[in-house]
Amino acid sequence: MIKASEYARRRRQLMRTVGEGAVIILRAAPERVRNHDVLYPFRQDSDFLYLTGFREPEAMLVMVTGDRDGRSILFCREKDPVKEMWDGAMIGLEAAVEEYGMDEAYPIGELERRLPELLRDRVRICHDLGRDPAFDTRLIGWLNEFRGKPRRDFHAPDEIVELGHIVHDMRLYKSRGELTAMRRAARVSADAHILAMQACKPGLNEADIHATLVHHFMREHCETAYSPIVGGGANACVLHYIANNAPLADGDLLLIDAGAEYDGYAADITRTFPVNGVFSSPQRELYDLVLEAQAAAIDQVRPGSQWEDIHEAAVSVLTDGLLDLGILEGNRAEALEQGLVDNYYVHKTGHWLGLDVHDAGDYQVDGHSRELEPGMVLTIEPGLYIRADDERVDARWRGIGIRIEDDVVVTRDEPEILTSRVPKVASEIEALMAG
Ligand code: GLY
Ligand code: MN
Ligand code: MN
Repeated sequence: MIKASEYARRRRQLMRTVGEGAVIILRAAPERVRNHDVLYPFRQDSDFLYLTGFREPEAMLVMVTGDRDGRSILFCREKDPVKEMWDGAMIGLEAAVEEYGMDEAYPIGELERRLPELLRDRVRICHDLGRDPAFDTRLIGWLNEFRGKPRRDFHAPDEIVELGHIVHDMRLYKSRGELTAMRRAARVSADAHILAMQACKPGLNEADIHATLVHHFMREHCETAYSPIVGGGANACVLHYIANNAPLADGDLLLIDAGAEYDGYAADITRTFPVNGVFSSPQRELYDLVLEAQAAAIDQVRPGSQWEDIHEAAVSVLTDGLLDLGILEGNRAEALEQGLVDNYYVHKTGHWLGLDVHDAGDYQVDGHSRELEPGMVLTIEPGLYIRADDERVDARWRGIGIRIEDDVVVTRDEPEILTSRVPKVASEIEALMAG
């Protein structure tokens, strides 16, 4: 688990980054009603979690920066024995200070009274306008009150700075503690994929395999990081397929995109394998091509590479392979120039990974594709998707969807693949499924 001292270090780093005279305001995620008095399971806002480790709703983090360390103040719910009887233990003000390392904690009900005082005489507010319009209206109201007072009494802050931008840049560089959590999420996810391969056989339903994955996540005290995709046959060509309720047919492939979340950190793995344990020859030809594209892209995961280098490496291999197989026609230069691969590969080759599956952080800096640096974590996930009704290609390719996705850490030298436990070489998958 990420320690309280690490959360405190992040807050100090943030306060140093924004500089003296600022007040930082960040709200916990709201609870969402599913229906009537039933709520969706609560998931903390990732920026809030990153800075506090605090997993309750109805909370507000306020940090007041000073010439040295500044103060972290948490507004949260007070412990309430009646509520605890219904919903379980609450954290409360005392533990917010003792266990979560806050300098001060106050009941959330006192926000209205205390926050205006904390805004007073600050030169800068760091806050994400627009995430909570009702709160923004209150904030503007307080600022207008200041503006109405004589200047010697109050000084309204001069600027409002987008907080998310600063926090998201911090979140890009994973600490040792974060990498430990991510290795665990990756391991649990990888084991779930292995169990799914072992369980799979014709006649089962996608839902059976979905259950196998979630069963393992829960046993390992993990959440699902996102809705798993379990798509047999042509369902694999639906990029965000989550119905997961069709029978698994002999002779089809199964694409599984599923990842666990541990201590807030996500894994994101995709494997594609034959429902009956043996690839057909067209399946195998396309599969090996995607795997080769993935290897070329992973090889780019090094300090100094740019995002576009990664995608181009995958596109280059896929283009060559599709020309060889006769799925694309023409010469290589034209195919690349015209982006013909886009007919069968509509997404990018990866994304940042962390507290969010599609993690925060810019992909472009000053108009240029961002360079990778040690400590960044990303997915590498090329694919090919040939729809069942695609008459441009020979019938044997139709209805095949393939993606292979691993989680990779940028290090000073070789990329560290967090998810390599799950087989992805076709013969190794077949051996596992035969076993
Ligand atoms: N699981 C979503 C993705 O692969 O991006
Ligand atoms: Mn992904
Ligand atoms: Mn995925």
